[in-house]
This record gives sequence, structure tokens and C-alpha cells, in this order.
Amino acid sequence: MSKPEILVVGSINVDLLLFQPRLAYRGETLLATEMREEFGGKGANQAVQCARLGQHVTFLGAVGKDERGRGSRTNLEAQGIECHLAEVDAPTGLGVVNVLANGEVHATILRGANAEVTPEWVRQNESLFERAGIVILQNEIPAESNAEAIRCASAAGARVIYNAAPARAVDLETTRACDYFVVNEEEARFFLGEELAEPTDMREAAVLLRNYCPRVILTLGAAGSLISTQSGVHEVPVVPVRAVDTTGAGDAYVGAFASSLLDGESEGRAAGIAAKVAAMATTGVGAQTSMPSIEDLRHDSVRAEAHDSGDASQC
Ligand code: RIB
Repeated sequence: MSKPEILVVGSINVDLLLFQPRLAYRGETLLATEMREEFGGKGANQAVQCARLGQHVTFLGAVGKDERGRGSRTNLEAQGIECHLAEVDAPTGLGVVNVLANGEVHATILRGANAEVTPEWVRQNESLFERAGIVILQNEIPAESNAEAIRCASAAGARVIYNAAPARAVDLETTRACDYFVVNEEEARFFLGEELAEPTDMREAAVLLRNYCPRVILTLGAAGSLISTQSGVHEVPVVPVRAVDTTGAGDAYVGAFASSLLDGESEGRAAGIAAKVAAMATTGVGAQTSMPSIEDLRHDSVRAEAHDSGDASQC
């Protein structure tokens, strides 16, 4: 029997990265110092990271009948990703990413064709789920399509990693049917709202998020990440690097975590590898450009080793 695959059901964007000293004030016109156009979209980014780590990856999504859509398909296929893309009248998804001098990243997206990844399109491609060991989802396609993908994954016996980004209202029945619920700090604040005391204890947040799913991963940027399960909250330290652009670092984390789990790693070790991969992905401009391959991981200049966080402190 052939090795199970990773199926990403999700978004494709083209990112316009604007490098600028800071955000503009109201009424101000600010000069950016540079603009880059790069392939992006949370789903596509996660698929690319899985492929770079040697997985067979299938992508289910949509693009517009435009140059950006054709370029995005070519980009994914060039990396060995099997694409099942609806070609729709809406424009290919777009991301406008402001990369500030202090390292902060602010993104605005136009869903475009990603809004056309319908439950019907997912259902029409249900056979893809049968080959999948892991299905990865995000929040840049309609919520009903994610629900349909979770139903298909469950029928096929595939595990689901749900990266609930960007944050939006979710159905608890849906999130609880997933194997992992992955969010960053801002998304955690959205999902927990007033339940969170100030100043926020992120370990407490990681515990509270288990209301959404029994297994939670909370990514905290420079503060590392937390795995929260019934057995407690485990800390995964960050791997220090000189970051150039953090766009897509969370996607690199999700892709590497999924890939490592599929390779049979424990979730603690998978999260350690994901932390290292995410750190490496911040060392170049753009979401996908600097995502490391297996070879990069073996010979990388990031000296800190990914480690098993299973013994790390718990609350
Ligand atoms: O996570 C980074 C991604 O978010 C960018 O590539 C942008 O397209 C948005 O989807």
C-alpha cells in the first residue's frame, strides 16, 4: 500500500509585499521602500512546506481565470503538488502584506476565487480524501466547505489539522471533530474573548482553547509555541534566527507539523521540528521563498536542534 498523502483544502493568494518603515497614519500617504509580488495564501503556503519536506501533497482549491491564477497553478505544480483547482470567474485571491521595519507584519486579503471553494467542489473531489493520512484546513475558504472537508476526512479515516486563521466564528461541533486546532495569539484572543483575564496568561489560554478541540497548538511567535492536551500544556521553545520577513511562518509551522506527524513523529517532536522550520522560513522575503526543504533542514545554519518537548514544563 502506498504511503498516505497530505491533502490541503484551502486558499491560494498572490501576495503584494510592501516594505515600509511603519503603518501610515490616518490621512497620511506613506512611501514604501520596496514592493515584491510573491506566491502566498495560507493553504498554498502550507502545501508547499509539506512538499518541500518530501510529502506527496494534493491541493484542492480555486483560482481565477487570470495571469495570477495560471502562475499560482504553475508554481504549485512545479513543486510536485497535485492540483485540483476550480477555475472561476472571480479573480485569484490577493494578499496585501505590510512588512514593517520593526519586523511586524500586517496583512489584508481579498478572498476572490477562494470564496468559490464550495462544499459542492469539496464533495465532487471526495475521492481525494481516501488517499490522505492528514487533511489540512484554514479559514480563507467558506466555513461550510471546511465543514464538508471535515466530514469527508472523517469518512475516510484521515486526521484533520485545522489552522483557524484568520479568526472567524466557528461551529464547536466542527472544531471538536478535528484532531488539532492551531491558532496564534491574536486568534486565541478572538476565540476566547472575555474568558481571558488581563494580563493574559497564554498557558491558561491554551487550556481554555481545549473547549474547541481536545488537542490545541498555540503559536506565540518569538515566545515559541504551546501544545495543550488532556495531559497538560507543553512548551516548545522558539529557535532563534535573524528574521527578515515573518510572512507565512505560521504556515511553515503547520506544514512541518503535519509532515512530521505523517512521518510518525510524536506530537512533541513534530512541534519541535515545526518550530525549527518556521524559524528558517523567516530568514528570507515572502511566505514560500525561504521555506526549507529536507536537505536545508539537514544542513541548516540554524544550530538549535528540534527537540521533543514531551518533557517540557506543564501547567
Ligand atoms: O499566512 C500568510 C498568508 O496569509 C499570506 O501568504 C497571505 O496570502 C495570507 O493568506
